[in-house]
Amino acid sequence: MRQGFFITVEGIDGSGKTTQAKLLKKYLESEGFEVVLTKEPGGTPLGSHIRKILLTQDMNPLSEFLLFASDRAEHVKNLILPSLKQGKVVISDRFSDSSLAYQGYGRGVSIEFINFVHSKVLSGISPDLTVLVDIPPKVGLKRLHNLDRIENGGFDFLKRVRNGYLNMAKQNKRFVVLDGTKDKEYIHMRILDAVKELIRDWRDRYEK
Ligand code: TYD
Repeated sequence: MRQGFFITVEGIDGSGKTTQAKLLKKYLESEGFEVVLTKEPGGTPLGSHIRKILLTQDMNPLSEFLLFASDRAEHVKNLILPSLKQGKVVISDRFSDSSLAYQGYGRGVSIEFINFVHSKVLSGISPDLTVLVDIPPKVGLKRLHNLDRIENGGFDFLKRVRNGYLNMAKQNKRFVVLDGTKDKEYIHMRILDAVKELIRDWRDRYEK
């Protein structure tokens, strides 16, 4: 049985990544793939409880990371891994890079510690492709209304988060970085360029 593939969509708040994740799902379905579109935090029943706590309750950065990690452990074990094993394509609106960017670069939790926890939580999976929809924090903040606790972290916080993402993207080939200030159709087409290449490689792996 062929395994599916795993795409994550990342970016600071207000980047428009959720819109792009939805457009990508439609495209992949039109190509005949079975697609699971999910998100973090809150991709599982336990995750939606954790999400409520995370978005409303003040806490220290380490507790915050560990709650995101619990949400992720459930998500990987109960939804992402089983779906990939059934040959489905999984698109996750945020995944492990969000913790590195927000809790690591943004709040100063040790990157080494985050990587260690992830080595247990991710059960060996890593996204096949990560789409980073990049925007300056000023643009992101202008697009947001009714900010939640984390979005309320302020301009300097979001600047650190954005730089964290850009740093990770430089070091990691699975990232494609897109300019989120561009038109949404244009961004979608650029995402498809990367996804089509991924599909070609995936077909080569299974069909040759
Ligand atoms: P959400 O309402 O899902 O925001 P968005 O639509 O921007 O994804 O809230 C998620 C918030 O949690 C968002 O501000 C980013 C933050 N977050 C982290 O700080 N660390 C993480 O590991 C994840 C998954 C999200």
